Amino acid sequence: MRFLFRRKERLTADLRDRIRRSFDEASRDEEHFPSSIDPRIYHVRLILDYFGDLAGKRVLDVGCGKGRFARVLRERHPRARLCGLDISEAMLKFVPAGIGAVAGSMTELPFRSACFDAAYATESLEHAVEIEKAVDEMCRVLKPGGRLVIIDKNKEQFGRLETPPWEKWFGRRELERLLKKRCRQVSCRPISYWEDVQPDGLFLAWLAER
Ligand SMILES: C[S@@+](CC[C@H](N)C(=O)[O-])C[C@H]1O[C@@H](n2cnc3c(N)ncnc32)[C@H](O)[C@@H]1O
Repeated sequence: MRFLFRRKERLTADLRDRIRRSFDEASRDEEHFPSSIDPRIYHVRLILDYFGDLAGKRVLDVGCGKGRFARVLRERHPRARLCGLDISEAMLKFVPAGIGAVAGSMTELPFRSACFDAAYATESLEHAVEIEKAVDEMCRVLKPGGRLVIIDKNKEQFGRLETPPWEKWFGRRELERLLKKRCRQVSCRPISYWEDVQPDGLFLAWLAER
């Protein structure tokens, strides 16, 4: 367990290109990669609750896809300054006006250190390949006291869904350990789509404060 991320896989230029092309293609599939999300879904509510008032705050959606979470955040907090980053420019074309759309990799965020008040990554870290680097980057761009949410799938459930070969799911302790290197108040909880439905163990949410 302790050495899990030491068997380092590299996000080589070839692999990065392959992942980007796969998501460019996936952007045409609105059913499985939707551009909107029901704001009652607990994944959204958890992020909103944990971040609190975002008026005037800078918020980064890491691996934002079509920006479905950022849309809800913008509706709830029109004075927040939202930015989505994604490796796929085809996905970014769906991000609505008023939300920044930046092409890049979460393993090398093109932002200066300590410039965001909050950041979140929903079902995107699992595609980063260089997981430790991506976690470090998310922490780096947060201001001291800035808040981070990562929502991804639970390693214990791996195999339940079809996955591309580069995708990784995480054990709760694995990500907790990485986050604790840079953040405090690190916690992890199982979540389901609906608050009143018992989590079935597929999704985990990690919360942390820089
Ligand atoms: C399953 S989608 C989730 C999108 C969005 N977070 C959501 O919940 O709707 C995964 C996203 O991660 C992006 N992605 C994959 N690898 C990435 C990387 N290295 N850097 C930034 N984005 C990446 C993909 O292009 C895709 O849009």
